[in-house]
Amino acid sequence: MKRSASSIGDRTYEEDGFVNCYVQSHYQDSIRSYLRKNPRAKKNDSTRFFQISLKNYYEEIIRFFFDGEVRPELALDLGCSVGRSTMTIAKYAKKVYGVDPSFAQIRVARRIAEQKKIAVTIGQSRFPYPKKGVLLEIPVEGKSENVEFVVGDDTTLSLIPFMFDAVCSLAVIDRVRDLRPFLRNVQKCMHPGSLLLLSTPFDWDRAYTPPKNWLGTGAYGLKKGKPEDALKELLYGFGFTFVREKNFLWPTLIDSRSHVIWSVYAGVFRLQ
Ligand SMILES: C[S@@+](CC[C@H](N)C(=O)[O-])C[C@H]1O[C@@H](n2cnc3c(N)ncnc32)[C@H](O)[C@@H]1O
Repeated sequence: MKRSASSIGDRTYEEDGFVNCYVQSHYQDSIRSYLRKNPRAKKNDSTRFFQISLKNYYEEIIRFFFDGEVRPELALDLGCSVGRSTMTIAKYAKKVYGVDPSFAQIRVARRIAEQKKIAVTIGQSRFPYPKKGVLLEIPVEGKSENVEFVVGDDTTLSLIPFMFDAVCSLAVIDRVRDLRPFLRNVQKCMHPGSLLLLSTPFDWDRAYTPPKNWLGTGAYGLKKGKPEDALKELLYGFGFTFVREKNFLWPTLIDSRSHVIWSVYAGVFRLQ
């Protein structure tokens, strides 16, 4: 499928079942606690996703991002989906914008931020055979007075007329067609000294990124080898310096019959 430069209007992330899976992945910890106290609802957890007792990935990765750093005034979470990482950044930054091209995901992120509760259907299958599951309303914690959710993508960042002290983009770089314009757009909304966190499981998919742009394969004229190294080299070319890196486990609910735990690379960089 040929994609345009902007991801706004891309149907993939608009589907209800898809958004429902993201809410469950972002709020796995809150749902786990709820199910412990409500064993009848627990029987719908067919993949035992909510029995995995890992610390919340979003909380962990954002703590790593700001570890030892001056707290930012203004932060951006690019590709924020339903907003757990954005509301986590809100604990460190004075103000944070969560930006995502999906109208459905931003609508849900706003609702969660306003109401401090999630509505999720546990056990619902997305395809090919619809299965209903059980609808739960679960209270969640989060800081949202200083959060704003906006529909947009890297190509519309100039509409937010600020320079960000910190930019985070989790699992987005393997969902864009060409990393060069994406990084140029990100760099334009940062100032010297701003921090950038990029995370990715390097889950390349032809539907999003043509193989010629897969990091580690010689893409962008960079060395073949580890994609982490290619990513660093690419960022050096955009004026970033390396700060620190770490791998994280990212549990994601796929469907009523599957979940995936990704090993995600996370790198922190500073604009020179
Ligand atoms: C794999 S999901 C990751 C979502 C979230 N960051 C997380 O870690 O759970 C990729 C997200 O990137 C968004 N996205 C895709 N292309 C984008 C772009 N060019 N700029 C910003 N976000 C984009 C999608 O709408 C989707 O929400």
